[in-house]
Amino acid sequence: MFPSNVTIVEVGPRDGFQMEKTFIPTDLKVDIINTVAAAGVRVIEATSFVNPKVIPQMADSAEVLSRISRNASTHYTALIPNAKGAQRAIDAKCNSVRLVVCSTETYNQRNVGMSVAQSIAACDDIIRMTQAAGIGFEVIIALAFGCPFEGHVAEAVPVTIAHQLAAKGITSIGIADSIGTGNPVQVRRMMSRLRAELPHVHFSMHIHDTRGLGLANVFAALECGIDTFDSSIGGLGGCPIMVGGTGNVPTEDVVNLCEEIGIPTGIHIEGVCEASRKIQSFLGRALPSAILRSGTRRQLFKM
Ligand code: COA
Ligand code: ZN
Repeated sequence: MFPSNVTIVEVGPRDGFQMEKTFIPTDLKVDIINTVAAAGVRVIEATSFVNPKVIPQMADSAEVLSRISRNASTHYTALIPNAKGAQRAIDAKCNSVRLVVCSTETYNQRNVGMSVAQSIAACDDIIRMTQAAGIGFEVIIALAFGCPFEGHVAEAVPVTIAHQLAAKGITSIGIADSIGTGNPVQVRRMMSRLRAELPHVHFSMHIHDTRGLGLANVFAALECGIDTFDSSIGGLGGCPIMVGGTGNVPTEDVVNLCEEIGIPTGIHIEGVCEASRKIQSFLGRALPSAILRSGTRRQLFKM
């Protein structure tokens, strides 16, 4: 059954920007985040607190957080790889943090220099730190359907990690198809199983459109009652470790899908497109969003 409304988590300023070779000026990052918030997006993954030597684009994360116009109705979150990232995010007054735990050993080692078990164990400190700071904590289980190094990921792998996290008391978990190898049948099976086995956990989804199945996967998750989706303006993004990776499902396109099938998001599509056009003009290339390119059906029919 469809959820009664959908929350979009705008991840373009992190997942999208981290892929760009040219440093995006802090002013533009701040402007994009403010524009997205003004369009009604209520959760924004504004940056990540990672080693700036590894991801130089995120070197200004604390500055971005200190310069955005904080909007009381908008929740600003950040991706973290470890407890040090959690402390930096707390210091920058994030409303929550999102820790990445990969489904495969090879990817987790390359991404954050830890085994999967070490990343899961790191949650204990981060739970204490975020509770003391009074902010939220979500864990993103990445590569949940496939890994560029280890291939197909069996459904039991992310499901087992989700159980281990839930056993620690974690109640927010994201399932990420980081390289876009999942299909709607797999999404439906995994998300309905997770919701049935862990009814006290809130599950979100993070979907990349690498092989054109992005919106079909969103639809499959909606049919399982999933009500929170990561997406990026214009479909910015990719995978820093895999050649040929592409962006997240575009925010405009997910909002349009929800509107077309009658699920409110509280977001003005045109406001999102304004943010996409700003970054598109800075990057000097067209972004893949269909709505950005063609407009909505309502606009076409002047409804
Ligand atoms: N923020 C900033 N610096 C950090 C950090 C964080 N969250 N965590 C560790 N560091 C610093 C350490 O202080 C150390 O600094 P130094 O070289 O000045 O002494 C350096 O990073 C190396 O630390 P170490 O613990 O040896 O880790 P590592 O070299 O294995 O790197 C990460 C681990 C997690 C810091 C690094 O791989 C990283 O930032 N990865 C992020 C990858 C990413 O963003 N992927 C895309 C999103 S999924
Ligand atoms: Zn991603």
